[in-house]
Amino acid sequence: MARIIGGVASTHVPAIGKAIADNKQNDPYWRPFFQGFDYVHKWLAREKPDVAIVFYNDHGLNFFLDKLPTFAVGAADEYRSEDEGWGIPVARAIKGDADLSWHLINALVADEFDITICQEMLVDHAVTIPIALMFPGERWQTIRIVPVSINTVQHPLPSLKRCLKLGRSVGRAVESYKPDLRVMVVGTGGLSHQLDGKRAGFINKEFDRLCMDKIVDEPEALARYSIHDVVEEAGAQGVEFLNWMAMRGALTGYVKEVHRNYHIPISNTAAATVVLENAPIAQHQAA
Ligand SMILES: [Fe+2]
Repeated sequence: MARIIGGVASTHVPAIGKAIADNKQNDPYWRPFFQGFDYVHKWLAREKPDVAIVFYNDHGLNFFLDKLPTFAVGAADEYRSEDEGWGIPVARAIKGDADLSWHLINALVADEFDITICQEMLVDHAVTIPIALMFPGERWQTIRIVPVSINTVQHPLPSLKRCLKLGRSVGRAVESYKPDLRVMVVGTGGLSHQLDGKRAGFINKEFDRLCMDKIVDEPEALARYSIHDVVEEAGAQGVEFLNWMAMRGALTGYVKEVHRNYHIPISNTAAATVVLENAPIAQHQAA
């Protein structure tokens, strides 16, 4: 049977892609951020996931404001990217796992999530940058992905509570999938940031810390925040935290934080990297 080994949360700022392309990982500006992935690399080398389910938000590459699904699930054998205009190299196509995608899609619809099914789906920097960070060099070729897009762009947005439930449905679906796969879940984006308007450059360290603390074993406490509250506390684009909530929801076992890195700012964003392990409840009780 498939099982979820854990989750990784990572910011996805486009400038990171430029830093990777220019080999700036050890520059003083970038080092505190990139070194936060040293542990992630060790963890992935040990845990050897086969598939990553990636909760992210599209920024206008595959979906635009004219048609923007609240939740969309990719069901393709590969996911291409395209030039988004950030001046970063276009990532090569990432392998998909269409069979797992269809299993998740069936389970989500049975669970009353009215998702959009995408048999073709371009993935933007919100997928390609976290994949490049977690699987540097050519290592990205070792992982298959199932992209799950959440609308964090056009209001009304789904609530944190709804995204937590979406993740839980995905977690249950993975546990009922027969092939013996090691599955990781990824939540990309955040933490606090606002790109425009009077509060452009807004960062809220206290709220970010609260989110990173509570997401480990009290995600329900975060689910009480409304979208309006999150915009207020984390900035207009801080709502990308919805992706983190879905990632956390998919961790259905005993969850433990094994790594955290928080660095301000990257571009004008609070950059955070978190690794959460997910042990089956029975295994945890026996330990
Ligand atoms: Fe973003």
